[in-house]
Amino acid sequence: MALLPIRIFGDPVLRERAAPVTAFDDPLRRLADDMLETLRAARGGALAANQVGVLRRLFVWESATADVTGEPWSGAYVNPEIVETSEETQEGDEGCLSFPGLFYPTTRPLRARVRAYDVYGEPLERVGEGYLARLFLHEIDHLNGILFIDHLARHDRKEAMRRIRAGELEHPPEELDVEGPAA
Ligand code: NI
Repeated sequence: MALLPIRIFGDPVLRERAAPVTAFDDPLRRLADDMLETLRAARGGALAANQVGVLRRLFVWESATADVTGEPWSGAYVNPEIVETSEETQEGDEGCLSFPGLFYPTTRPLRARVRAYDVYGEPLERVGEGYLARLFLHEIDHLNGILFIDHLARHDRKEAMRRIRAGELEHPPEELDVEGPAA
């Protein structure tokens, strides 16, 4: 296993659309393992392949609080698709490992149903609610080159861009020691 460098906003790979995974093989599983190790080291909630410079459709996630239904609380989702979202929305601060130290209120659907494959090519389906819905939507956005700042209210986005231009991503303030909405 290996830690992979996380790409920071400004890197063009974060604006690219990732291509579907076609081979469920050992290199894919090694990539997923490395991404999970990288995620844990960064103390985040999820990590998309774009964020480590790989334009393939997969993300890994892990949560200490999502296991309220006895379902797995971490995973590697390959070729994921959102197949349904609730009309009901949620408000909450969202962050991203590619924007260290930046957290802004982001509106998302309250629930999201995801279909994907595991790293062995077995289909899976999962309904995320609350934090987990936010996480799934954020990661699948990444695979389409969409970033959480794209969802912000205009004044928050302006402030975020001002802070980025001022160099805050390179010198983030001390991060809060909470389970990361950062994904
Ligand atoms: Ni992110």
